[in-house]
Amino acid sequence: MTSAQATPIDPKAFNLFNIPDDYYLDPQPYFKALRDEDPIHRNADGSVLLTRYEDIITVWRDLSGVVNREQAYTKKFGPGPLLEHHTTSMLFRDPPDHDRLRTIVNPFFSQKSIERLRQATVDIVAKLLVDIEKKRDIDFILDFSSKIPVQLVCDIFGVPREEGPIIRDLGAQVLLPLNPTVTQEIIDAGHVATQKFKDYLLQYINLWRKRPMEETPSNIISALVAAEKRGEDISENEMAHLCILVLNGGHETTTNLIGLSTLALINHPDQMALMASEELNVPVAVEECIRFCSPLQLQGRRTTREVVIASGLIPAHTEVIFSVGAGNRDERVFDHPNAFDLNRKPNLHLAFGSGIHVCLGRPLARLELAIALPALAKRFPKMSLIEPPVFNKNARFRGIQKMKINLY
Ligand code: HEM
Repeated sequence: MTSAQATPIDPKAFNLFNIPDDYYLDPQPYFKALRDEDPIHRNADGSVLLTRYEDIITVWRDLSGVVNREQAYTKKFGPGPLLEHHTTSMLFRDPPDHDRLRTIVNPFFSQKSIERLRQATVDIVAKLLVDIEKKRDIDFILDFSSKIPVQLVCDIFGVPREEGPIIRDLGAQVLLPLNPTVTQEIIDAGHVATQKFKDYLLQYINLWRKRPMEETPSNIISALVAAEKRGEDISENEMAHLCILVLNGGHETTTNLIGLSTLALINHPDQMALMASEELNVPVAVEECIRFCSPLQLQGRRTTREVVIASGLIPAHTEVIFSVGAGNRDERVFDHPNAFDLNRKPNLHLAFGSGIHVCLGRPLARLELAIALPALAKRFPKMSLIEPPVFNKNARFRGIQKMKINLY
């Protein structure tokens, strides 16, 4: 990822709804221009785009900001399952509904619960390494990075790992319409996929409804059904959409993170060597991969009152979009922000968000990276790109679609 740019960027002309192709290869030159010259950038639809760290964190932490997007998403998606999902899942619900739903799933992501997945993660990675070492050339995303997170989220939900590909396929179609620019075809496919995803999950919800209640729920679906049986305030739709949200959160971003981190290591041989060495401080290295790659790049809030930020004022009732990838390279906060430095400290990046919606799955994402990347670097320290990677054309979820690498 270089920050070289042939023609100067006019940040005022930057249009989130008509993103240039080179942005997907490397958005950083755009972010730098926006941070330096237009930190409260007005988008064509009246929303604002924030790119400076301090500005983002102020709005993200402000409890008066809301996530409910009913009005905007009704206009964007039209009625149907896709709209239902992105207005029912807790990511787009405000308190008290958000807190009611998050309380049910929180225990599955405590440090202690995630630690129980350590051995499963080690085993998944070890098996994948054996599978790929038989080949010289692989598609890293297809053959490695996409296979780790989905198996682990299947375990957390108590659904068979073999069904991972169904979850990945449906999940991608539910998430793609959140991109700032989408076609009607993508929206229609999103509605169909959301309905299929709900039907798929309802089979398991109904299965657990027929079973006796577990004393300590062994998976998220069982926990949701137990809450329903205890007469807690939760509807069938909320159960299904919470499952879709966590399943999607659990694989897409982490697949992207493992892929982007591996690309960064290939592009920085000294850091690849450090990743493979016994001197590596694993937790510190993991934070740098997360900061440098920032797989979830755009998030948002709507202000309910005027908010004062370091760069100026945001009026009440404004849609605010945070560019996480830009905040994490802000030179006002990080020394040499474009350097990939696995020893970087301090590293208070924004990649997992802040405030009440702070990423639920962050201990799991950290665990996966901590196991997969050192194991990969130790086994294949000389891996190299066969051809330039193909990036997803997705401004919200930055990731790689295809990355052909030679392992030796
Ligand atoms: C590197 C990987 C990941 C990144 C960068 C990431 C990033 C984020 C961010 C920035 C938010 C906050 C959204 C907001 O405030 O509007 C969030 C929320 C969330 N994440 Fe993650 N995430 C990752 C992995 C995961 C995993 C592994 C899971 C689950 C297994 C997960 C589940 C969720 C859920 C359910 C929420 C919504 C929380 C709420 O609304 O209270 N994420 N994530």
